[in-house]
Amino acid sequence: MRLIQAVRGMNDILPREISWWQRVEATAREILEDFGYREIRTPLVEKLELFARSIGESTDIVEKEMYAFPDRKGELLGLRPEATASIVRAFIQHNLHADPLVNKFYAIGPMFRHERPQKGRYRQFHQIDAEAFGIDDPMLDAEVMYMLHLFLQRLGMEGVVLHINSLGCTECRPAYRGLLQSFLADHAEALCPDCQRRRHTNPLRVFDCKVDRCQSVLQEAPVLLQSVCSACSAHFDRVQNCLQGLKTAFLVNPRMVRGLDYYMRTTFEVITDQLGAQNAVGGGGRYNGLVKDLGGPDIPGIGFAIGMERLILLLQQGSGISSVSPHVFVAALGEASRRRAFLLVQELRKEGVAADMEYEGRSLKSQMRRADKLAVSHVVILGEDELNRGEVQVRDMISKTQEVHALESVVQAMVKFHGKRHPCPVG
Ligand code: HAM
Repeated sequence: MRLIQAVRGMNDILPREISWWQRVEATAREILEDFGYREIRTPLVEKLELFARSIGESTDIVEKEMYAFPDRKGELLGLRPEATASIVRAFIQHNLHADPLVNKFYAIGPMFRHERPQKGRYRQFHQIDAEAFGIDDPMLDAEVMYMLHLFLQRLGMEGVVLHINSLGCTECRPAYRGLLQSFLADHAEALCPDCQRRRHTNPLRVFDCKVDRCQSVLQEAPVLLQSVCSACSAHFDRVQNCLQGLKTAFLVNPRMVRGLDYYMRTTFEVITDQLGAQNAVGGGGRYNGLVKDLGGPDIPGIGFAIGMERLILLLQQGSGISSVSPHVFVAALGEASRRRAFLLVQELRKEGVAADMEYEGRSLKSQMRRADKLAVSHVVILGEDELNRGEVQVRDMISKTQEVHALESVVQAMVKFHGKRHPCPVG
């Protein structure tokens, strides 16, 4: 019989990898909440028009990568390729701007882009996304990047570089667009067919082109950063000063344009050289016109998203976080001890300590092997003699030392070591 497999580019996240995901998510929530962001959950499906109007009709995401389909009534829908458009829609639809105290949001979840799958690039992938509304001050731009930097630092991530750029505004970008178009017209015959088209529809997008000969033409192209107006230039200077004040290292990259049309002024990406072609771990920027363009009030916004698969690949590759979760294994010998061990495991779990045992009455050696495989930090050993004396042996699996504890107080000792994860509200 032919086996049914998952859709190409869409991956299962298996129990053996899940602790990385949980750790990354927990760290993100911790930091985002400390910076005043509150979680928002929006649908995975939106009207297709939302993405076309926000991300841009002539971007690769909308032109080539959307999962788009008519529903049973013929309405055109799309699986979300990113979270910003949906959050802005919800922000407007629910009048969230009416509450000035809650103007920062985050979302964690799957996104969909029909790209060619390879390492670090999938058709269903996950983002941690953060959006802040209502503040136009460059201090916020720097704060957002600082928060991203702090997040990566807390995960133990090394070797990534923060690239920043300014994409100007509606005042200065049109003049640059003209300049770039005439440069591209002069080099038209050297451009790939996609860029031939882009130079008329959306010339800035040529910088995203992966074709080598286009990239070599673009080495000579004028860059936007040199054409931005004095207000944009002052904004960008302040962003850099603030980042320096926050001791957050960055590199100005005038050729970084980002793949979405809603940006203006500050844009940024976190780049790695350890994932081959998929070198962006996260990216974002300011999008002051977007809320208004989608029918809301004229409210500025800025945000970013991190690709969780890429982040976790990097953490697994490097010396980042450990996937070992605190865990106690109770090993028992003899029927009476097994019955007592069973109660002990439940007591530990009730107190919020992840605990397990072996139910089949195997030898102590076999139970220790299992404990080892589970990578627990402590094994509580309960034999017949110990049970009679009201004692247990506690083996620290990291330091490989062992000591005797009173059976009565071992739960409290483990709680003290591991902390109460989920204290039981009843009983
Ligand atoms: P983006 O640069 O398109 O920005 O995506 C952000 C991150 O998502 C990328 O840096 C990458 O790590 C990850 N990513 C994108 N596509 C894939 C894929 N096919 N497979 C795996 N990972 C992927 C945005 O999505 C904007 N909404 C960010 C933003 C928020 N700007 C303002 N607010």
